[in-house]
Amino acid sequence: MCGIFGCVLNDGNAAPIIHAALKKLEYRGYDSVGEATLHNGELCIKKDQGKIDEVHKIHNLDDLPGNLGVGHTRWATHGAPLEVNAHPHVDCSGGIAVVHNGIIENFVELKLELENHGHVFKSKTDTEVIPHLIEETLKANPSLSLTDAVLETVRKLDGSYAIAVISTKEPDKIVCARYESPLVIGVNENAVYCASDIPAFLPLTNRAVIIEDGELVVLSPEGFEIRKIADSSVVVREPKLIDWTPQMAVKQGYPHFMLKEIHEQPACLRNTLRLQEHYLDLMATFLDRAREVFLVACGTSYHACLAASYMFSKLAFLATYPVIASEFVEQHGKSVNIDSTILTVSQSGETADTLASVNCARERAATVLGLTNAIGSTLTRVSRVYIGQQSGPEIGVAATKTFTSQLSVMAQVALRLAKKRGKVSQDEMDFLAEKLDKLPDTVEAIIQTQEEKAKQIAKKYKDAKTFFFLGRGISSATAYEGRLKLMEIAYVPSIAFPAGESKHGPISLVEQGFPVVFICPKDGTRRTLIGNIMEMKARGASIIAVVEEGDEEIKKLADEYMEVPKGIPEVLSPIPYVVPLQLLAYYMAIEKGHNPDTPRNLAKSVTVK
Ligand code: G6P
Repeated sequence: MCGIFGCVLNDGNAAPIIHAALKKLEYRGYDSVGEATLHNGELCIKKDQGKIDEVHKIHNLDDLPGNLGVGHTRWATHGAPLEVNAHPHVDCSGGIAVVHNGIIENFVELKLELENHGHVFKSKTDTEVIPHLIEETLKANPSLSLTDAVLETVRKLDGSYAIAVISTKEPDKIVCARYESPLVIGVNENAVYCASDIPAFLPLTNRAVIIEDGELVVLSPEGFEIRKIADSSVVVREPKLIDWTPQMAVKQGYPHFMLKEIHEQPACLRNTLRLQEHYLDLMATFLDRAREVFLVACGTSYHACLAASYMFSKLAFLATYPVIASEFVEQHGKSVNIDSTILTVSQSGETADTLASVNCARERAATVLGLTNAIGSTLTRVSRVYIGQQSGPEIGVAATKTFTSQLSVMAQVALRLAKKRGKVSQDEMDFLAEKLDKLPDTVEAIIQTQEEKAKQIAKKYKDAKTFFFLGRGISSATAYEGRLKLMEIAYVPSIAFPAGESKHGPISLVEQGFPVVFICPKDGTRRTLIGNIMEMKARGASIIAVVEEGDEEIKKLADEYMEVPKGIPEVLSPIPYVVPLQLLAYYMAIEKGHNPDTPRNLAKSVTVK
């Protein structure tokens, strides 16, 4: 996730306005920053790696000349957070500058084609193909307007993008386009703005136009014009008045970051489906070669590892060992060796216990693989191969969108490994790949239909002293994660364990009205799970079930239920089934009057052991 901004002012300097707007977008990424303005027919650029304030201290982001320009705050996806990879990116002539938020999936093919036409690339980014493509389009047809050249260019892009383009060819315009990355326009009497998000221009205007997927917008001193990318037809849309306070604006109108991030999951899952296949394959190859594989992480990332161990086993017939990072050195430090592989999962890439495991593994010549949301983090620097999960910054301390993205990446790696090992048929592969593709829509549907239900259940059980979270098989990982959410933000003591363990101790806690959450996908564990539900009911427990739509048998047994669409394959089930539990935890925290974004005693990234 990155932030883009652009402005065309009737008069005055654009640079300080761009700088201020980027500060408002900093929550979208902050590993590098850049600006480009047009002045006297010349493109002026400043960019560097580092946080906005650091870069401003060195380069002064306010003194670029010109009344028109674009800016970018970066969250690295392709290419490390280095000056050369910071936006804006330019073409060979240095006359076209582009800022971009999103992922261009076909950039490797496009880059090769452009290099064959003599284009020289400086960065490792996917974005850089865009200015070169525009340049190539204009070279082939010099009479085209900048708008038409951008139209032709974006029609060749696969993936997601919100872009803003400026060029010395038409120095009074910014051309923007959008597909699956946010883009909004702001207008007032003195200027027109484009941005990834409303807060960027809210101090300047509250009149905004939301740009839809497949639209292009031209900003000029005359205002803005929207066109459809498919057929260039003009779209008429009036600005809306935005009545958000600046505080609400940063959260896009949501009361808390956590709720915003729960709602962002469909978009994040779509991004994880755009990962470069090469890295997924590489990771699968390393896992295939390993004699033993440890999946090492803390907190929510550990729960992703736990679920992944079922995926690797069930799909690729590979035994892996999920280990809580703070125990790894004690438990396996002496035995880990050159034949071992540790797949380390860390949203931040900086968790001290996780990095200590990595150090131990490296000292003993084991192979370290990484999955993280922070490109440029320590984990990316020490991993033999790493995958960036591309969830964008997560601000709420309780991990939500990063968990479901981690699971999606793991499922993709497991599928590739299964293929490599010949453990799944082509039909099965196609079936699972199709289901994985549909998950963003499934999660969207769950949020839409179950949020109210979660709210009601939270209201009813807000005074419960303790909760159980139970599942069997891969759903035990979902249970652990549901329990962690409730405990960390609503401060409700909760216990999770594989449901089969009840009778070995925990069931002694159960008495009349004791709430037990059961995760009940229709998989091979269902019959025994129903037995576990009966055991709990017989002792007076209140059953809260997360069930498949239309599962009347379990619904009849349950006191409350939340539903998930039908037909989710077992190995993918933690992704949709955890969503109602995230919502339940969120609304329990609200009911109990706690701020879910900043739970007491916890930190987003724990850098001490
Ligand atoms: C902290 C956070 C958790 C997170 C854990 C691991 O405890 O509060 O939300 O799951 O660290 O963090 P990591 O960045 O390594 O995934």
